[in-house]
Amino acid sequence: MAQARMIFPPDFLWGTAVSSHQVEGNNTNNDWWTWEQEDGRILHHHRSGLACNWWENAEADLDAAAQMGLNAQRISIEWSRVEPEPSVFSAAALDRYREILIAMHERGLEPMVTLHHFTNPRWLVEKGDFNVDVVVDYFQRYTAKVVDALGDLIPKWNTFNEPMVYVFMRYMADEFPAPQKHGFGPGFQAVRHMLHCHAAAYHTIKEKYPAAQVGIAKSMQVFAPRLGGNWLDGWMARRVKGVFNDLWLDSLATGQLKRPFGRGRIPHLAGSFDFIGVNYYTRFRVKFPPGREFIVRDWGDEAIVSDGAYGEVYPAGLFQVINQATRYQKPIYITENGLPDQADRLRPSFILTHLREVWRAVSFCFPVMGYYHWSLVDNFEWHNGWSQRFGLIEMDPDTQARQWRRSAHLYREICLSNSISSDMAARYAPELLATLFPGREPQSV
Ligand code: BGC
Repeated sequence: MAQARMIFPPDFLWGTAVSSHQVEGNNTNNDWWTWEQEDGRILHHHRSGLACNWWENAEADLDAAAQMGLNAQRISIEWSRVEPEPSVFSAAALDRYREILIAMHERGLEPMVTLHHFTNPRWLVEKGDFNVDVVVDYFQRYTAKVVDALGDLIPKWNTFNEPMVYVFMRYMADEFPAPQKHGFGPGFQAVRHMLHCHAAAYHTIKEKYPAAQVGIAKSMQVFAPRLGGNWLDGWMARRVKGVFNDLWLDSLATGQLKRPFGRGRIPHLAGSFDFIGVNYYTRFRVKFPPGREFIVRDWGDEAIVSDGAYGEVYPAGLFQVINQATRYQKPIYITENGLPDQADRLRPSFILTHLREVWRAVSFCFPVMGYYHWSLVDNFEWHNGWSQRFGLIEMDPDTQARQWRRSAHLYREICLSNSISSDMAARYAPELLATLFPGREPQSV
């Protein structure tokens, strides 16, 4: 049979993404650790516990990442380790992050580092976290410390991971550790403070390392009206998309706040990003009137839905959100993309179909420079505990035993060949051949 190959640019970055609390283990000093101890907060009362034991031995999984052919890796720094008490910094924690970053470089994995990925030091929460002005000074001080101690090893930074998800899950949905104040007002106040923090962190990094690339990992999903909906559902879907996908990036681009975030200008914010990190997972169906939930979980009979009704598998959406991100005219990295799939039933085809969309974007000259799959290894999935498994590598949190899923082998072939091919589809997801590579062998005469 004829072989076809979709080839990526020679300097394309192939990575996976993780975050500190989800993999390090024993992060006893942050708000999530406290939250996990309370009844009813985490599904099945799971706890992060030892997580993937990265604090002791990240190197083992970094070895696996290198074997998988990756040339990049996204991690996050845990603020509560670096600054366990206000203005008391832990040299031991910073040393350990240095070791981990050096281990990444030694294995040919270019680090991308996020400063805030959903967790807060407990002391910060007691002081009012993102609802008090002084948080901007705290965040700037923490960033400066990380820059001084580790900046020489970090070419790419994200200030925040998914600020809108953080705010929504914490202030409105009650799924993440409760802030002192709750609801839309305090939530949008937190957004404003996070934008100030972003600007402060951006300039702190760039002052010392002008060549560093600093951006943000932004959740960008597709929001479509509910099936069988009317124009009001469509209107609602556009509103939600605006608030969820666009407004934060618009503020970064212009320095201006728009409603419902607030009004006015944030000093030093305009243009304070060198790239956009896109975290894409799914297409949400939106309804009007919203009620307590504005999302409906009816995807229709044809939809492919991942474990635990996490969401619809919708590869075309990745192209759509890349297209949206291009209007900011900056390089784009896919900083997260993945699905929970314990049995690895859907993941091989998920990877191939989503990467086809990335390839399509690159082929249209959209500046997509890299792809970080979420995630390297099964890890602690926040309020869903260990019930949702996103890893290319399967991990048993009780024994810490690891096993490569088929998708890990597929991803290895992709990274090493810098391409996806009809041969890969034939071996890992033959059902896709007809749609991914629809060409036919000529009939012999
Ligand atoms: C978050 C990750 C999370 C993943 C899967 C993203 O929203 O950044 O921390 O594990 O989605 O749900």
